[in-house]
Amino acid sequence: MSAEGQAVTLGEQLRGWLPVRRSAVLRGPLEQRLARRLAREYRPDDPPLAHPCGEGLADVLVVRLDLPGQGGVVLKHAYSASAAAALAREWDVLTRLQDEERLGAWRRLVPTPLDRRLDAPRPLITQSLLPGRDAGTVLVSAPAGARRDTDGRVAADHVAHLALDALAALGRATARSEPCTDRRVKAWVTEPLAAVRDRIPWCRTGAGAAGLAAVGERIGRGLDGRVLAVGWTHGDYHPGNVLLDERASRVTGVIDWGEGREDGPVAVDACTFVLMLRCLRTGADLGPVVADVLRTGALAPGDAALLASASGAAREGDAADPTVVLLAWLWHVAANVSKSPRYGRSRIWYRRAVAPVLAEAVRWPGL
Ligand SMILES: Nc1ncnc2c1ncn2[C@@H]1O[C@H](COP(=O)(O)OP(=O)(O)O)[C@@H](O)[C@H]1O
Ligand SMILES: [Mg+2]
Repeated sequence: MSAEGQAVTLGEQLRGWLPVRRSAVLRGPLEQRLARRLAREYRPDDPPLAHPCGEGLADVLVVRLDLPGQGGVVLKHAYSASAAAALAREWDVLTRLQDEERLGAWRRLVPTPLDRRLDAPRPLITQSLLPGRDAGTVLVSAPAGARRDTDGRVAADHVAHLALDALAALGRATARSEPCTDRRVKAWVTEPLAAVRDRIPWCRTGAGAAGLAAVGERIGRGLDGRVLAVGWTHGDYHPGNVLLDERASRVTGVIDWGEGREDGPVAVDACTFVLMLRCLRTGADLGPVVADVLRTGALAPGDAALLASASGAAREGDAADPTVVLLAWLWHVAANVSKSPRYGRSRIWYRRAVAPVLAEAVRWPGL
């Protein structure tokens, strides 16, 4: 049942001031212990060494298991119902990608699904460990040998080109042009909007609800009758989900496929990457970055130039279009609130990632 029109309760208001991220001090020892326990349950006779990884933002503990002689395995354990549902979706997507002949060599960039124990007391899936480090970490920590800008930082444009080229290859393998139908609008816009409305109390009432309705209307109008490249999309293609080799010279993997779909508008992933890269470069939050694009009607010139120089669907101009920017934002927000209820409950996250876009949306004339 939709929660539209319901007021924000006192409990929701109070919980709103809790941070999304759990305290690292508390998390560290607890995660270590849980990781060891998961490793023992995974291989009771010969428990592998277990290393927690990831930022612990969603309700998922990601653990790298070292299996001597067999390389590594990644175990993802869900500790909430929404996280378990997200792992079930990821498993389903990874399985379909494995069977997707059209991907050819691109399949090497996708983790192989290994075990699925979602009905266990500690629900989990495992997948193959892909080599490399995620592009977000690479950009922040600048490994030796990586290409650098004149100021010594790893060249973000170079990393963006690698990530966008990988997307272009995925698009070439799976995308075809098609007019946007009502069925597509329902899957791409209506369903994510409903997820956002149901999971963020401030989007159910007042200015938040009006802003979200305006976003939906604007994307619907922008897509109506438009011909788009439709194919496999990742759905949350940010630098943290793209793995690079040691010298940051090659994409070695694309992970975190819970929002993947075989019939998405492929321009969205390129747009997400460029938006999230801007946030990483400048320290800005996603909300104001997207609100700026909507206010000015265009991406920042550097970001538009990046997309223009990329190959594939991004070059056709789709990815720089404000409608696609808005869709990329909606998908990112919907992905977060679907992974963990802590996002939707956090007023701090809402103010950073969501509210500026909704405030901009209610100002649009003619809506
Ligand atoms: N298949 C994989 N191969 C290598 N590293 C992985 C893999 N899956 C996850 N990781 C590591 O774990 C981190 C978190 O995993 P991810 O699937 O992105 O979950 P989330 O972003 O929801 O926490 C990644 O940033 C990466 O370092
Ligand atoms: Mg991730």
